Amino acid sequence: MGKTLLGISGSPRKHGNCELFIKDIFKLMGQGWELRMVRLPELDIKPCKACYQCLFDQKCPQEDDFLPVLDALARADAYVVAAPVYFLSANSSMKEFLDRGLQFYSLVDRLWGKPGVAVAIAGIEGKEGSGKRDVESFVKLTLGDLRGSAVVYGALPGEALLSDANRRIAEGLARALVDPSLRLAPRGPVCPLCGGDTFRLSSGGGAMCMLCSGSGSWQLENGDLAFHIEPGDHPLFLDKDAVNAHADWLRGMKGRFLARRSELKEVVKPYLGMGTYIESKKGKERG
Ligand SMILES: Cc1cc2nc3c(=O)[nH]c(=O)nc-3n(C[C@H](O)[C@H](O)[C@H](O)COP(=O)(O)O)c2cc1C
Repeated sequence: MGKTLLGISGSPRKHGNCELFIKDIFKLMGQGWELRMVRLPELDIKPCKACYQCLFDQKCPQEDDFLPVLDALARADAYVVAAPVYFLSANSSMKEFLDRGLQFYSLVDRLWGKPGVAVAIAGIEGKEGSGKRDVESFVKLTLGDLRGSAVVYGALPGEALLSDANRRIAEGLARALVDPSLRLAPRGPVCPLCGGDTFRLSSGGGAMCMLCSGSGSWQLENGDLAFHIEPGDHPLFLDKDAVNAHADWLRGMKGRFLARRSELKEVVKPYLGMGTYIESKKGKERG
């Protein structure tokens, strides 16, 4: 049996650019692969209830389509994530999935290091906003080995495949998925910890990587911008031990909560009954 590539599309457009680009990458990966697809917006993926039960091997109370997707990801040999840029970021389907990510910690061994590539598809050149970082974040937070990422431009469904430059990007990403030595080289200065290339800078020389959230400094070295970034106390995906350590820290939250429960209850009290709330027409169905 061949290896499985999971294509995760964030687009609500059937056969739109995201889907076609994933299929193009698949086609370019050569023999020995089969393609499994998921259209995230078609699925029912509810918000995390912040109950932390999944961290203690208990079933997530949300009954929806999240688990079949996570299972497909765990089974896949490699994955491609493609999201449309909506209002200067990857559309919400990416984040809806990631927000259920406390469940990734029960599958660290099956998810860690899986080859993944990420594509943000924007309709207007230069108006991709944080789209590239957002799709990179999807691969990193699902504990994959981010072998390459790109912004691709194309507005009308199928338009992204009309450009030779875009087809070359698809070729590069396909090669990077099948051969780790061919991972896509970054074009500019990157975070030395995670390879991200989106930063928040301060005039005092401070820098924070917007992909791994490590912080440090930026400098000009021989005319080139260089970043020195440290992981801090809570690295989320830098190595497998850090992932497991973070999961353990999260599990410890239960004890910390129980220890401070009565103190926290007192904090909440004066705010109870304040304000009126807009209620969902569907009542308690959602959530
Ligand atoms: C609600 C909405 C918001 C959009 N916002 C942006 C944007 O901020 N920047 C941009 O370049 N393109 C934007 N676009 C264009 C899409 O990113 C573009 O059409 C892309 O090809 C969609 O991919 P798809 O064909 O896979 O759905 C937006 C499209 C929609 C529907």
